[in-house]
Amino acid sequence: MSKVLLDMDPGIDDALALLLAVSLPELELLGVTTVAGNTVVEKTSVNARRVLEYVGRGEVPVYAGASGPMARLLTTAEHVHGQDGLGEAGIPGPIDPPQAGALQFLSETIKKNPHEVTIVATGPLTNLGLAFLLNHRLPSLVKEIVIMGGAYHLTPYGRGNITPLSEFNIYTDPEAAKIVFESTAPLTCVGLDVTTNPSVKIDSQRYREISRLGGRKAELASKIMKYQIERFGEIEVHDALAVAAAMQPAMFQMVEMNVQVLTNNDASRGATIPFKPKEGGRGRARICIDINSEEFMRLFLEKVSEA
Ligand code: RIB
Ligand code: CA
Repeated sequence: MSKVLLDMDPGIDDALALLLAVSLPELELLGVTTVAGNTVVEKTSVNARRVLEYVGRGEVPVYAGASGPMARLLTTAEHVHGQDGLGEAGIPGPIDPPQAGALQFLSETIKKNPHEVTIVATGPLTNLGLAFLLNHRLPSLVKEIVIMGGAYHLTPYGRGNITPLSEFNIYTDPEAAKIVFESTAPLTCVGLDVTTNPSVKIDSQRYREISRLGGRKAELASKIMKYQIERFGEIEVHDALAVAAAMQPAMFQMVEMNVQVLTNNDASRGATIPFKPKEGGRGRARICIDINSEEFMRLFLEKVSEA
């Protein structure tokens, strides 16, 4: 069993990542911490609870975290995720609201399970950046951090989605990202280089397949994906790919490089610059540059179609 903590900003694709995570028997979901990003933290926190309760996993705790970036104004993405952050699909609840205390939960969980916790971070890295500032030992105690974030220009798909250089999660809080990328924590980076590869997008045909499946998970997925299918004709499942990278890394091709996060106040804000380590050294981050898309899609559809 892998002990996993999800740090996220649900968000439609975060919700799909959560659906995948609760469907993997080898994944022990210790809890979810939420952050402002796709929408405000009040909504991302409630959304995590709504998803968990909808699929009968209300026992998983959700802890609300940072309401905005460390040193920037919050930029949200309701135009992509809907005003409620879950595609305005009328998902009920939650019965049990989220709790406060994301930073305390992160810190205590990591310290109680030294070198065993994999953090899958699929939103801006504000919670992790603050937690690492509050306790400098934490990075050395995590097993791994799998980050959905960055655009590394290592594949034809590796350009930014907020600026040509920057990906949303890193752009939103570049200072927090800099703290995490420069920490000693082992990093796996799932960037736009693989997540916007057309072979792993949910197109209208795949959407129709999912909509015809039975079961609560497929029903929820179909409801919340409708918002993006209607507006964009496809869904980019960025965050579910990060869960897959954490649990089945062999599905990905990765390169070991170092990464510099730019915190300028110009078009380079939030850029993630990969660079080769010194001769003979090892890159500190594993960056995903390719994906076995058939294998990923088979896993995703199999898990979403479960009762
Ligand atoms: O750039 C894509 C990322 O930003 C995804 O995690 C999406 O949910 C948003 O948080
Ligand atoms: Ca996200």
